[in-house]
Amino acid sequence: MLQGKKIVLGITGSIAAYKSCLIIRELVKRGAEVQVVITPAGKEFITPITLSALTQKPVVSEFFSQRDGTWNSHVKLGLWADAMLIAPCTASTLGKMAHGVADNMLITTYLSMKAPVFVAPAMDLDMYAHPTTQQNMETLKSFGNHIIEPQSGFLASGLEGKGRMEDPEKIVSYLDNYFSATPSNAASSGATHTAELSGKKILITAGPTYEKIDPVRFIGNYSSGKMGYALAEECANRGAEVVLVSGPVSLTTSHPRIKVVSVESCQQMYAAATESFPSCQAAILCAAVADFRPAVVAEQKIKRVGQTMDIHLVPNPDIAAQLGKMKKPDQVLVGFALETNDEQQNAQHKLEKKNLDFIVLNSLRNAGTCFQSDQNQVSIISRDGKRDYDRKPKNAVASDIVDELCNRIH
Ligand code: PMT
Repeated sequence: MLQGKKIVLGITGSIAAYKSCLIIRELVKRGAEVQVVITPAGKEFITPITLSALTQKPVVSEFFSQRDGTWNSHVKLGLWADAMLIAPCTASTLGKMAHGVADNMLITTYLSMKAPVFVAPAMDLDMYAHPTTQQNMETLKSFGNHIIEPQSGFLASGLEGKGRMEDPEKIVSYLDNYFSATPSNAASSGATHTAELSGKKILITAGPTYEKIDPVRFIGNYSSGKMGYALAEECANRGAEVVLVSGPVSLTTSHPRIKVVSVESCQQMYAAATESFPSCQAAILCAAVADFRPAVVAEQKIKRVGQTMDIHLVPNPDIAAQLGKMKKPDQVLVGFALETNDEQQNAQHKLEKKNLDFIVLNSLRNAGTCFQSDQNQVSIISRDGKRDYDRKPKNAVASDIVDELCNRIH
């Protein structure tokens, strides 16, 4: 989707500036035309000669090229570009962008930009976490700019890995996804699905839940999140805004239309899902949620005493059943059933009990599918009947499920 796109790449004075070469290489590989605009500090980290060799274009840096009256037009660049990407973007440039401090060519180009702007921050954690930086990023978001950051780990304070510039390939994929999901590209791409879910908001749950026993132990399961993340990508690629409520997994997504809400326990997933569902047109509940949790979470690590140990469990809320109660006539609710025996009967029971529109059945009897595998084999069961599908990669399974969803969503 980047074929033929004109990208202004802004480079600022960060040690991550060397990675802009990898960004250029990836953009050019995907067919984009790149014009670099670099700040004076950026040139301390990487030379314009390297950049112009990679882009096959002179690098723009100063307002005036020579002392002969010729000057670089930031206005022309603003009209030329299909997108502006600022990567790496320092705290200083973030601040100038948020407040319109137009003291270099990059900021004047930003202020004249007619195309969408993407920003990949790069700084140390202290600078990143400072309220000024956080506020500047919020300001830029409120202007409609896209901030591209690595997703943080689920167990971290929320700041793990933050400040570090996202990987060049993921940054370029973010832009690629953006253009893929933009309706104006649908016709030229020939894609059949693009923008089918444009204007729709979809809630997806994914991954396992962890139910704490003590500070070091939990009750969990083998879900990797692959099936749920594939569904999220599929919906987002068809133009939907996705709220992905994810249990603890090692997966990340950089799709611009997917907002990840990281949770750990069933109760946290329940709170996030019930809050989001009323503003969504559909929900797909793919998470493997623990039905029970320890009644008491020990404050200290439990010591080995005696020969046996009992953990008293209490029921967790059923997220699917609750959303089934909240469901309005124009909302579509999709569940999963992971079974080991009496598959169809159990799935049909869940379809009714949870008031689902259809349920996706997968069985652990099909070796090499379900948990952790890259493949799955499913049946879709609704009140209209049952359809069996072949074993496929999870992204192809996600496409089948979203096809079924699209038949029902209005
Ligand atoms: O994550 P992967 O490694 O890719 O594996 C994918 C998967 C096997 C986890 C996935 O395909 C799958 O089957 N997910 C549902 C697993 C499950 O817990 O099924 P269940 O039959 O126990 O639950 C039925 C439905 O109720 C599910 O939609 C589940 O999300 C939901 N549920 C269950 C319990 C609960 N307390 N709240 C819920 O919302």
